[in-house]
Amino acid sequence: MISVFGSKVGQEELREVQSSLENQWMGIGPKTRQFEEAFSKRLNLPSFTLLNSGSNSLLMAVKLLDLPKGSEVILPSFTWISCAHSILLAGLKPVFCDVDINTHNVTLETIEPCITKNTKALMVVHYAGKPVRMETLSELGLPIIEDAAHAVDSKLGDQYCGSIGDIGIYSFDAIKNLPMPEGGGITAKNPKHTEQTNNLRYCGIGKSGFEVSQTKSHRWWEYHIFDVYPKLIPNDICASVGLAQLKKVDLHQKLRKKIWNLYQETFKNLPWLILPKDPEPDEQHSYFTYCIRLTNGRRDEFAHYLLDKGIYSTLRYHPLHLNPIYQSTKKLPNCEQLNETALNLPLHPNLSDSDIQKIIETVKNFA
Ligand SMILES: Cc1ncc(COP(=O)(O)O)c(C=O)c1O
Repeated sequence: MISVFGSKVGQEELREVQSSLENQWMGIGPKTRQFEEAFSKRLNLPSFTLLNSGSNSLLMAVKLLDLPKGSEVILPSFTWISCAHSILLAGLKPVFCDVDINTHNVTLETIEPCITKNTKALMVVHYAGKPVRMETLSELGLPIIEDAAHAVDSKLGDQYCGSIGDIGIYSFDAIKNLPMPEGGGITAKNPKHTEQTNNLRYCGIGKSGFEVSQTKSHRWWEYHIFDVYPKLIPNDICASVGLAQLKKVDLHQKLRKKIWNLYQETFKNLPWLILPKDPEPDEQHSYFTYCIRLTNGRRDEFAHYLLDKGIYSTLRYHPLHLNPIYQSTKKLPNCEQLNETALNLPLHPNLSDSDIQKIIETVKNFA
């Protein structure tokens, strides 16, 4: 079966992991710090703290905003569930907005109808790695959490996505553009937010007993607890994989772009398909996923046809406002249209040339 998402690892990852194991150091440690420095440098971030997932980075980001209970946070319905979970878990109210049908991103027009006097923040998602036009949202004067889970290599002008809003988060889970077994991270413009993240991520104790002992503290085992918080620390095994992957991001991005361009060129004449938007001249796309729309009303049949031929496709995402757990009665026409017509095709660096040819021929033969 050809998978829809994937990553490519090799000897370099094995060597990095092996060196951590040989040093008898698997938990948070030197590799974590190396990854934090290298990632921050690559994206020119004001700060960067590695955490154990993108979902937990969202949880942290919402916590850092310190909004009054019951505040409303606007986010796209066409996104991953942890975006809404992070808001609800903080005692706030997620307010789902629509997305642009072509970019699958939020815009000023889709956000504005959702604004009330209780709106206290925005959470935006750079879908598939196509940058949200952040400059158009600044006039709203609201703090912005940027979910750059798909967008480690996306840029708007000369700024990397994640570093444009107040707080940005990344995901390094096993299928992302920069994969680890599990991982995520957070960047923040306000240095206080970075300090808080570092104090919170290890059950709210800031420093381990060992670190405190190095300051010659009298009783280093008596932890100073900054706040009640879960354990969100990363580990050096994941960071090792991340360090090796970081050196391959440019290569993998080239492969992703090549596949994207091939699909765009080959599928453009299929009258029953609407293709995803290419980046604008001032945008850099990360090509995390390739999301098409079918105009012939046969999306489900197409997905089953691909599955029968050994090609796995999916829909990212089932719009959150349609999920009963969020108890939304909203009508968001573009999200609902995507729910009925959109499908993500395989795009990742582990596709072989024959996989790509098979995907292209199989898609073309669906008539
Ligand atoms: C848009 C978006 N945000 C957040 C996340 C959560 O990241 P993680 O899987 O690392 O928890 C994902 C994961 O797929 C995602 O797609």
